[in-house]
Amino acid sequence: MAHYRRVGDVPSKRHTQHRDASGRLYYEELMGEEGFSSDSSLLYHRELPSAITASEIWDVPDTATTPNHPLRPRHLKLHDLFPAETWAGTDVVTGRRLVLGNGDVRLSYVAGSAPSPLYRNATGDEVVYVESGEATVETVFGALRAEAGDYVVLPTSTTHRWVPSGDAPLRAYVIEASGHIAPPKRYLSRYGQFLEHAPYCERDLHGPAEPLHVTGEDVDVLVKHRTSAGIVGSRVTHATHPFDVVGWDGCLYPFTFNVRDFEPITGRVHQPPPVHQVFEGPGFVVCNFVPRKVDYHPQAIPVPYYHSNVDSDEIMFYCGGDYEARKGSGIGQGSVSVHPGGHAHGPQPGAYERSIGAESFDELAVMVDTFRSLDLGEGGLACEDPAYAWTWARRG
Ligand SMILES: [Fe+2]
Repeated sequence: MAHYRRVGDVPSKRHTQHRDASGRLYYEELMGEEGFSSDSSLLYHRELPSAITASEIWDVPDTATTPNHPLRPRHLKLHDLFPAETWAGTDVVTGRRLVLGNGDVRLSYVAGSAPSPLYRNATGDEVVYVESGEATVETVFGALRAEAGDYVVLPTSTTHRWVPSGDAPLRAYVIEASGHIAPPKRYLSRYGQFLEHAPYCERDLHGPAEPLHVTGEDVDVLVKHRTSAGIVGSRVTHATHPFDVVGWDGCLYPFTFNVRDFEPITGRVHQPPPVHQVFEGPGFVVCNFVPRKVDYHPQAIPVPYYHSNVDSDEIMFYCGGDYEARKGSGIGQGSVSVHPGGHAHGPQPGAYERSIGAESFDELAVMVDTFRSLDLGEGGLACEDPAYAWTWARRG
């Protein structure tokens, strides 16, 4: 994020004395990516951000994976993972279940109404797509409101917690990267401004508007981090509440972007998925398919051509509308399709022909394409529709 933001009380000159009304110094923290060589923010704390009193093991949700072997396209029904009786006791951090993962990215799903513990992910950025429900995301930078269609982008090691609100559970599709997630470079000027051809711009991004101050002592934070044994968790106790910032400024902070603000790029004939891209991360891209007018060449076939993505696994999360190309496959709201490298895929039988003459599609899906193969997590294995792989071969 090269988009500068300033919130709350910061001194006029960085790295200089900043004091409260009684003359007590605030403690400056630089939170920065790639050492001191990329985006960063300066946060001013009331207390020492480094003061901790305990650290214990936290057993993270199951991260074990199973290879997609024998190779199959797959349909995973994520809503089946969280029946209604589980919502009250489930939170977005400890309740998430791993659907798919590799060394670059992990895709999880959760539905629940419980507030989460304080948490930070030191293994990489998270993008949490809110399928439905609403929440406040309290962070060390301030609070964000999250609602259906929001991507909540949480930079690595941002201390935060999820507090769902409203009657419905919060349904969240979680993308955990092994590094940093950002808009595609081709959308940005050499200095980082969104260009005219980008399908969204700075006005569509919403960061915290004011600092969030919470008092407390001996406050636990769940930290996900890496060791030589893989991804592990620790429960770190802070001497005082980490939400004690009086002000911050810089280009690194959490923000939301709602999918309804993505302006679709359309054409006379079928446009390739990169026109739907919203973010990129190490080893993967995120695209979204939004309601839009479709191909208007008089001979156009509006659903996609069959395609072999020889270098990627393609994961679609169906989160709204009607997905024309998948009719007859059993796929519906809350489904994930896994179309791996090594398998040609495309519309279900009949959809190709039926789409001719269509003027618009009312569909909403979030797609993650990875450049290394994905394995199935325990959540993915637990909600698979085993008939999906054979649905293109149905006769009649
Ligand atoms: Fe595809």
